[in-house]
Amino acid sequence: MTEKIVLAYSGGLDTSVAVRWLQEKYDAEIATLTMDMGGKVDLEGARQRALDIGAVRADVLDARDEFIAEYVWPALQAGALYEGIYPLATALGRPLIVKHLVRIAQEEKAYAVAHGCTGKGNDQVRFDVSAAALAPQIKVLAPAREWGMSRDDEIAYAQEKHIELDLNKRSPYSVDENLWGRSIEAGDLEDPWAEPPEEAYAWTVAPAAAPDEARYVEITFSRGIPVAVDGEKLSGTTLVEMLNEIAGQHSVGRIDHIENRLVGIKSREIYEAPAAVVLHQAHRAMESMCLSKEQARFKERMGQEYADMVYNGLWFSAHRRDLDAYVRSTQTHVSGTIRARLYKGTCAVVGRSSGESLYRHDLATYDASDTFDHQASVGFIHLFGLPVRTQAEVQGDQQ
Ligand code: ARG
Repeated sequence: MTEKIVLAYSGGLDTSVAVRWLQEKYDAEIATLTMDMGGKVDLEGARQRALDIGAVRADVLDARDEFIAEYVWPALQAGALYEGIYPLATALGRPLIVKHLVRIAQEEKAYAVAHGCTGKGNDQVRFDVSAAALAPQIKVLAPAREWGMSRDDEIAYAQEKHIELDLNKRSPYSVDENLWGRSIEAGDLEDPWAEPPEEAYAWTVAPAAAPDEARYVEITFSRGIPVAVDGEKLSGTTLVEMLNEIAGQHSVGRIDHIENRLVGIKSREIYEAPAAVVLHQAHRAMESMCLSKEQARFKERMGQEYADMVYNGLWFSAHRRDLDAYVRSTQTHVSGTIRARLYKGTCAVVGRSSGESLYRHDLATYDASDTFDHQASVGFIHLFGLPVRTQAEVQGDQQ
């Protein structure tokens, strides 16, 4: 019986070459999986190409709803921004691909799964570690990490093996995209002094090209999950698609970051994540109304931890699940509506309202309706300052 390998297949050069290369090198049958997580992949085209190259099974899967509900929303609720800025689109997509790769591998009794990552990035770690977490006995093959072919070598290999490629579509950059964002690397972006050229961007217009009129957008949350835009209830997938569109038109969502990769390299990363930028800002503003000071501050630290776990490929881990339980508990009262202004590359929260807000006008106001007990401050400050006064009396002034 021939051994089987299940390959994560994007339809591009690397993974197309990989179908044949794995087949020959391991004398195995290849099954492929192509997933739509909002990255505008031609699913049917990919299926046909995989079969043409010789795959024995070629699955295509629209995983957009699962991606948003099971991966993106928990990360949003956690406030997970790697190094305070990267919304983790690529990092969140990887474990979901592995989940389905492993499922198919089990259905096919395959001994290995495979992916097209190189040996320099974070993605190889995410694939390998996620697979280890879900199926510790399965082998993970990474042909592009092994074969030592340059891009030109790969093209020559493809020609020799009569693998049809659509090379015209290829951009000068390495791009990965899904609903939560677009990650752009390589080429002239590797000079950290050089401003990214406009052609690197696909989802956002330049600030100067954005409309002169601001766009106000209202986002409604229920327990920390966005459920409506401008009062219209939407599915998660539609909501994110719509915000990518609206915010992108106002140039919101461009991120230019020098990032610390897990493998020890600093790299220049460009992201476009219009919906993620707006939603993280809005979600944080919603929390500022609905969480206590202690919840908000402790959660902020948890959010960093959560982002590191996702970034480092530890989605499928007990620690991430524990963090999720904590985060979910914090979201019980994070409900209401945020109003944000999108204008020439900026997103500013300008209004908040919530039925579960801890902001109380009668306590905050300086006008006549004030109910705050000013006299109570005297005793409060007396005790609050007691240790400082005591130390000053005993040990001298504290200057
Ligand atoms: N640096 C980002 C990450 O590690 C994005 C990687 C994107 N991959 C790509 N082929 N452009 O999550």
